[in-house]
Amino acid sequence: MLSQLDSLKTEALAALDAAQDEPALEAVRVNFLGKKGSVTALSQGMKDVPVEQKKEVGAKLNEVRTAITEGIDAKKLALQAAQDAKAVEGIDITLPGRPGAGLGALHPLTQIRDLAIRTLRRMGFALAEGPEIETEWHCFDALNTPADHPARNEKDTFYLPDGRLLRTHTSSVQIRTMEAAKTLPIRIIAPGSAYRRDEIDATHLSVFNQLEGLYVSQDVSLGDLKGTLEYFFREIFGAGTAVRFRPHFFPFTEPSFEIDVKLEAKGKDARWIEIAGCGMVDPAVFAEINKARGDNLFDPETTTGFAFGLGLDRLAMIMHGITDIRHLIENDVRFLQQFAA
Ligand code: PHE
Repeated sequence: MLSQLDSLKTEALAALDAAQDEPALEAVRVNFLGKKGSVTALSQGMKDVPVEQKKEVGAKLNEVRTAITEGIDAKKLALQAAQDAKAVEGIDITLPGRPGAGLGALHPLTQIRDLAIRTLRRMGFALAEGPEIETEWHCFDALNTPADHPARNEKDTFYLPDGRLLRTHTSSVQIRTMEAAKTLPIRIIAPGSAYRRDEIDATHLSVFNQLEGLYVSQDVSLGDLKGTLEYFFREIFGAGTAVRFRPHFFPFTEPSFEIDVKLEAKGKDARWIEIAGCGMVDPAVFAEINKARGDNLFDPETTTGFAFGLGLDRLAMIMHGITDIRHLIENDVRFLQQFAA
């Protein structure tokens, strides 16, 4: 058996030497080490080897198996190296590279979101987040939005079979933040996706990017709201930008406003453009949060706050004069390249 093993080894190494490609190498492996290979067949004879020779034969068997395995590995590497060398034959790898597609850049929406976040963080707002699949309570009930409100209609909102929904605004993050808060004040911003069942056209998609903010404390005033947001929009649009607050209605704020900024499109007269919603948090929202928490941290008698929300897609469109919101999701490089910094 010992001499049989020796000659198998010689045979295998010769076969390896002769193998010129991967399939040939694999055939050698199967022939010698495979389930029906000759080394395997010999090793099955181990049970008939007399006890006093078992050790020696076993060691030889291992030696032969190892030699063949290592031989295969080495040959595989050699074949690969030969192939690599062939692939670069005639190519001068010392030539300098040619610029290809060029450096990438941040998407215009990302740029604007980052600018908005940076500006608000400087004013002390911290980032907060919440799930995009929400409960009706977090999206509507807790925000003082009654069951018969149009936004709760199946025509306007994507409902899941289990009654949850794709959040229609990031105000739900404000609710979650207040639910979990340990102390006041709260000063957060929540950028993220929101979903509405809108007909898709030049100004609507069924998913858009929102950024909402919330400040809750003991003596937050309408003056704080105006000061904060005027500063914010002047940081974004330039120091001289006129900002106005127009009375409006939202279920979760009272009083509520829409914010317009006066902007000049190139070659046109300046005009007021609606850009955000805001207001003082309705005490009914605080009462509902207390009920859910089982305490009175948001005592409606003493707690005040403001909230605001804006669409980042719309902001990007206004800032860059983009006329069709769909450009923002089509990833056409000819469009995106215009915003490369
Ligand atoms: N949640 C409102 C919307 O999606 C925006 C808003 C936020 C308005 C906070 C007032 C206060 O339209």
